[in-house]
Amino acid sequence: MRVAIIGQGYVGKALGIAAHKAGHSVVGVEIDESRVAELSGAIGYSVSSDFSSVAGSEVVVIAVPTPLDDKRVPDLSYVESACESLKSFVGAGVLVVNESTSFPGTLRNVIAPILGSESLYASAPERIDPANEKWGIENTPRLIAGMSPEATAKALEFYRSFCNEVHEVSSPEVAEAAKLFENTFRQVNIALVNEFAQIANVLGISTHETLAAAATKPYGFMPFVPSVGVGGHCIPVDPSYLSYAAEQAGVEASFINLANKVNVSMPGYIAARIADVLGGSVAGKRIQVAGIAYKADVSDTRESPALALISALKGLGASVSWHDPVVGAWNGERSSDLEAVDLGVIATAHSGVDYGAWRDCKVIDVSTGVNTGWPKFL
Ligand SMILES: NC(=O)c1ccc[n+]([C@@H]2O[C@H](COP(=O)([O-])OP(=O)(O)OC[C@H]3O[C@@H](n4cnc5c(N)ncnc54)[C@H](O)[C@@H]3O)[C@@H](O)[C@H]2O)c1
Repeated sequence: MRVAIIGQGYVGKALGIAAHKAGHSVVGVEIDESRVAELSGAIGYSVSSDFSSVAGSEVVVIAVPTPLDDKRVPDLSYVESACESLKSFVGAGVLVVNESTSFPGTLRNVIAPILGSESLYASAPERIDPANEKWGIENTPRLIAGMSPEATAKALEFYRSFCNEVHEVSSPEVAEAAKLFENTFRQVNIALVNEFAQIANVLGISTHETLAAAATKPYGFMPFVPSVGVGGHCIPVDPSYLSYAAEQAGVEASFINLANKVNVSMPGYIAARIADVLGGSVAGKRIQVAGIAYKADVSDTRESPALALISALKGLGASVSWHDPVVGAWNGERSSDLEAVDLGVIATAHSGVDYGAWRDCKVIDVSTGVNTGWPKFL
């Protein structure tokens, strides 16, 4: 099939590579010229900023950002702008698929009205998990729903060409809602375990031992681990798309909003516990934070709670530096080498980091990943 993929970020590039490998003729469209330059010649298919390269495509996939605005309301401006740029190049009968995460009704009420009734429409929300070596685009089951039987059939044909398992649902709204519910499930369970860590601390019991004990129950329990909070642009963002849709329909999503509140409070909570470790105050103390990406072995710092921890510690008067060889540079600063400080904090434990410079320091490990040699602090 001739396939155009709009947006060549994390999702669009992974899809482009998979579709190209499956034998489709792929073009990528990307508005960020530096990204176009970075990808050109590097991925086996062509990428450009010229929307006319979409002309003649049989399948057009939208994979652009769906963030929240500064009032934490869904911002569909990237989706709308991509559709506006596309519309003169999408002919009758072309299948338009949305992979961007959004609330139920986005395909039918936002995308289709811009592109017109002559095209076919399907929703196929992306579920990719960065740095996950076990589950990728081929073996993660894909949800699909078209707005018409013809759209569904064409979407099934396309996704079956590179995805082992494609699960058809009855409407795009179900597919859109399922994607939001999956990430909301993680968000609320992470908030619950973050709250439990605070309860266990005041009760004087070990969170990790308690969780490991609970996890011996073979049914009805799924372990989550406490952390500095949630990061990336999925777990902190997607649940707010669901609560927005609920509120628009007159239902208050109190559970989701509470989970957000608990997760967002974690950096401040950890900063206060660090003050306890340092004898009551962090003022004037030298603190280094290792790992500022939102998860291990990725360079993405979007919504990273480690950054909120750094600003909470600075707000309390600490002198804070950070070390993250995977991120390298952030906000005009470069990663510092680890050095002897008053306290080291492992916020995100990337593989292969040598914490040797901290051997004689106080260190707390609030990461969720591998064993770093220090006990988990939460
Ligand atoms: N990254 C993930 O782990 C992940 C997983 C599942 C779903 N998603 C969802 O997939 C969508 C894309 O996420 P991503 O991580 O690839 O984002 P990203 O920021 O890595 O990539 C999006 C790309 O789209 C480009 N873009 C923006 N507007 C455009 C336009 N009008 N035309 C063409 N290109 C445009 C941007 O320049 C950027 O390169 C979002 O809805 C996100 O929530 C992401």
